[in-house]
Amino acid sequence: MAPLTRQQTFKGEYAIELTDVKKSFDQGKDFILKGIDLKIPRESLTAIIGFSGTGKSVMLKHILGLYEPTSGKVEVLGQDLSELNNNDLTKFRCNYGVLFQSAALFDDMSVLENVCFPLDEHRRHLKKDQVIQIAYDKLKMVGLDPKHFEKLPSQISGGMQKRTGLARALALDPEILIYDEPTTGLDPILTEMVDNLILETHKLNQGTTSVMVSHDLAAAFRIADFIVMLDAGRVLLSGTAQDFFKSDIELVKRFVDKGMKH
Ligand SMILES: Nc1ncnc2c1ncn2[C@@H]1O[C@H](COP(=O)(O)OP(=O)(O)OP(=O)(O)O)[C@@H](O)[C@H]1O
Ligand SMILES: [Mg+2]
Repeated sequence: MAPLTRQQTFKGEYAIELTDVKKSFDQGKDFILKGIDLKIPRESLTAIIGFSGTGKSVMLKHILGLYEPTSGKVEVLGQDLSELNNNDLTKFRCNYGVLFQSAALFDDMSVLENVCFPLDEHRRHLKKDQVIQIAYDKLKMVGLDPKHFEKLPSQISGGMQKRTGLARALALDPEILIYDEPTTGLDPILTEMVDNLILETHKLNQGTTSVMVSHDLAAAFRIADFIVMLDAGRVLLSGTAQDFFKSDIELVKRFVDKGMKH
């Protein structure tokens, strides 16, 4: 089997640290993030929750280095992202595996080619058969049957597309896995499958820090080690599921009551 070792391994306590992060898109008239302080422990599975429009996706984009904070600091794996130039940031992004609501596969590439793609781009020293072996291993890890590997995304089901997207996110053995609404719009059975897949993937890839933005509160409470609730660009509460259930904060209670009903 091809070597799957990571290039570097971070040993600090927190994989992700945001310090007083503020973000305005209109020269300070309005702030979308109003001073986020957040520490995500290394190797945890953390869920970010909150009502629509509270800044969850904007915060994730800061963690990914796609947005620069107006003020404050974003550190990932001990690296202050503001110290990286564009070129270094692109390289640094190999530390992330990302899965969004749409699996965003390349339509004209087979399942296998989709997973080979990041390896062809970023692991140029590998031979083609090594690349294919790694892609095979990742697809098997996410539970896809090899009989689908040569198919195009349009020829497989939505659940299989998610698995393929996840295999591609895992291709470079990222230290950090980011999910933004991975189950929004899916039926309940597929939702549960994807949630379980996220949990399984987190357990199988030891050392990985997973961050998931989710509307699905029941799933967040079931699979996450820590939960962070954002409200209007601030962290309203962060802690374990227990901390949320016993919270006296009115907005937390409302969110928990609503979210746990269905
Ligand atoms: N590039 C941008 N320029 C200007 N405003 C933006 C930009 N991106 C996001 N916003 C604004 O930031 C606010 C927060 O958006 P964000 O996408 O982070 O919400 P969210 O919490 O992820 O919501 P949802 O649960 O609906 O996905 C919204 O009012 C949005 O319009
Ligand atoms: Mg969002």
